[in-house]
Amino acid sequence: MSSVIGNWKHTVLYLTLILSLVYFIETLISHKLHIDHTRVRLKRSPDLPLRFRDDGTFKILQVADMHYGMGSITRCRDVLDSEFEYCSDLNTTRFLRRMIESEKPDLIAFTGDNIFGASTTDAAESLLQAIGPAIEYGIPWAAILGNHDHESALNREELMIFLSLMDFSVSQINPPFSFDRAEIGAMRSIDGFGNYRLRVYGAPGSVLSNSTVFDLFFLDSGDRETVQGRRTYGWIKESQLSWLQDASQQGHNQNVGNFPGIPPALAFFHIPILEVRDLWYTPFIGQFQEGVACSIVQSGVLKTFVSMGNVKAAFIGHDHINDFCGNLKGVWFCYGGGFGYHAYGRPNWHRRARVIEAKLGKGQNTWTGVELIKTWKRLDDEGLSKIDEQVLWEAS
Ligand SMILES: *[C@@H]1O[C@H](CO)[C@@H](O)[C@H](O)[C@H]1NC(C)=O
Ligand SMILES: *[C@@H]1O[C@H](CO)[C@@H](O)[C@H](O)[C@H]1NC(C)=O
Repeated sequence: MSSVIGNWKHTVLYLTLILSLVYFIETLISHKLHIDHTRVRLKRSPDLPLRFRDDGTFKILQVADMHYGMGSITRCRDVLDSEFEYCSDLNTTRFLRRMIESEKPDLIAFTGDNIFGASTTDAAESLLQAIGPAIEYGIPWAAILGNHDHESALNREELMIFLSLMDFSVSQINPPFSFDRAEIGAMRSIDGFGNYRLRVYGAPGSVLSNSTVFDLFFLDSGDRETVQGRRTYGWIKESQLSWLQDASQQGHNQNVGNFPGIPPALAFFHIPILEVRDLWYTPFIGQFQEGVACSIVQSGVLKTFVSMGNVKAAFIGHDHINDFCGNLKGVWFCYGGGFGYHAYGRPNWHRRARVIEAKLGKGQNTWTGVELIKTWKRLDDEGLSKIDEQVLWEAS
């Protein structure tokens, strides 16, 4: 009899314990267990495919090396003493907003070191703030990684996953497994994270409105590696180059509207290639103010571009106070010039951004394929001065 009463007492005790636990979780810590009180919502996507405008233009804003930290509490580097006190990451945000308002780009390309991992404890939050203005204005944007993005709480794969899921992002983690068969979730085995192709279609209503007329390739140039005992930067690997070669040949209608099947292409990556050093001895346009920091490994990128034939220009970052374009074997290599205020720079040398504009040719009553590719830069001064405008390619 007494043992039955004992069990009953235990049951009451357990029930009381469980009820108080539920009460405790519900009232005291439940808000900490919810990610958000709003309902889960889908990513806001831009109108796809990317395409030229009615006026036959497509404009890309390159943003190189924002080095974003934690916003208002992250101080600027290499600004004048008189500027230091009122300068933070918010100045980088302000510059991005001004560039968007003045150029109205169709796509923004963030070419790595978007955040400076060492200056933030929350990589996702920093990315949200850094990319913020692109999302605010609803502009499609594509990002790749530099050598600093992953120095915080997310690794390179996690960063690319996050970037691909953000609003208005057209960034991809890596290319699909096969061009012909859409195997859901299958990705091609390739080095790095953030190797992808964006196709840009012709102007609405034109003969090429359903065709790719401009190809954009994004590549992961890695971070740091040790080669034969020497510390060096990352480089673009064989697997990435062979994907690039395959991709540029695939998915094009042959000779649409009397225009050659393989359209001109641009490439975007973070770390320069070795040959960029040789540009010192050529008539480059812009400023060459620091040594080219790149891998000691000869990666074969230039050889691949030359053999592909359609890559007209590559846009890089990494060296903030170089902002020149130079030509290597018919392919332009252009630095974006440092954009961010928390990135190293040079006092009295304005932060800057590069703009790339492609124009379609005029056929009989219709826009045709790309006929002209131009670039220029804008400085973060009072009037957003436009400098170094040049033609990169013209259809012959
Ligand atoms: C940073 O932004 C503040 C506030 O808008 C402005 O007063 C200051 O001049 C900016 N500094 C630089 C270096 O652009
Ligand atoms: C493009 O595709 C749309 C929808 O399938 C079609 O209505 C239109 O005629 C096509 N335009 C051309 C130029 O092929």
